[in-house]
Amino acid sequence: MQTIDVVNGPQGVSRIILGCMRMPALSVQDAATMLRTASEEGINFYDHATCYGMGEAETRFGDAFQVAGLKREEVVIQSKCGLHHRDRKEFDWSRDDILDSVDGSLSRLKTDYLDVLLLHRPDLLFEPEQVAEAFERLEKSGKVRFFGVSNVTPGQLMLLKKFVRQPLVFNQLQFSLDQTQLIDGGLYMNNLKTERSIDRDNEVLNYCRLNDITVQAWSPLQFGMFKGCFVDHPDFPELNEVLGQLGEQYHVPKTAIAIAWILRHPAHMQAIAGTMNPQHLKDICAASNVNLTHQEWYRLYLASGKFLP
Ligand SMILES: NC(=O)c1ccc[n+]([C@@H]2O[C@H](COP(=O)([O-])OP(=O)(O)OC[C@H]3O[C@@H](n4cnc5c(N)ncnc54)[C@H](OP(=O)(O)O)[C@@H]3O)[C@@H](O)[C@H]2O)c1
Repeated sequence: MQTIDVVNGPQGVSRIILGCMRMPALSVQDAATMLRTASEEGINFYDHATCYGMGEAETRFGDAFQVAGLKREEVVIQSKCGLHHRDRKEFDWSRDDILDSVDGSLSRLKTDYLDVLLLHRPDLLFEPEQVAEAFERLEKSGKVRFFGVSNVTPGQLMLLKKFVRQPLVFNQLQFSLDQTQLIDGGLYMNNLKTERSIDRDNEVLNYCRLNDITVQAWSPLQFGMFKGCFVDHPDFPELNEVLGQLGEQYHVPKTAIAIAWILRHPAHMQAIAGTMNPQHLKDICAASNVNLTHQEWYRLYLASGKFLP
């Protein structure tokens, strides 16, 4: 498994993360099997959010982690706060909500500390002073080691950084061979023929690279917003043909090529795999041994429906 040392953040972390959003669907025993498989494959990083299964994902993980017999100090547990889309229908980055959220996560995950806390999605009413106060308390109490954000723009990051003392070391963003809005603007800039020229996030990728913020790609195998996995999907014949050809060439499954495409980007991103199937996870982890060439990377990008301007 390829690892990275995150600047100002955790060291030696796996470039493939196990995302636990879909973990509520598993029994504790099956979740323990997933965690053991992840560990055997070299994954030492787990992504959560308070909202996944309304807390069920964290609860299942907390129970399964004990059954799996993994060592707490050998893994990085990340959770996210502030997203109340089901219960309260609002996003909330206020000091007390952040603090309450972390306490809830710690109790469900059955741990004393989070390695990483991310602000999940921007709260339109956020007051950076309140975030700063919450982070200060969480760091001082030892409840959180490192901090970051998710789905956050450069302007919001700059505003946070004016008040928050701790480095913001991660930005979790949507990125897959189908969902390429993170990079498209850079290729099609100033091109009136395609909507892909629209800069939808104020060049967040360049901002992150310039400021030592590691990008974590969420839903790396999905098309649309949770519409399904594009690998072996009949709507993506050209992409699957190229994934298949490169898979044969590198002796790995197609999903490994799709993940290797993300890992090949020079931003040194992590990819968050959301599968809850142990064999699917092993397939994905084979990406760690694949280093696509410059031309192969473009071949996949073009096969996913894009063109060279
Ligand atoms: N920050 C954010 O806003 C945000 C948003 C969404 C997600 N996330 C994070 O990103 C993680 C990953 O998201 P995701 O689950 O949508 O990602 P994903 O890895 O792109 O998709 C996983 C889904 O694809 C299915 N799938 C079908 N065939 C597969 C195959 N051959 N190999 C692998 N998977 C296959 C999986 O089913 P099986 O389980 O049957 O394999 C699973 O339902 C989440 O767990 C969460 O941690 C963050």
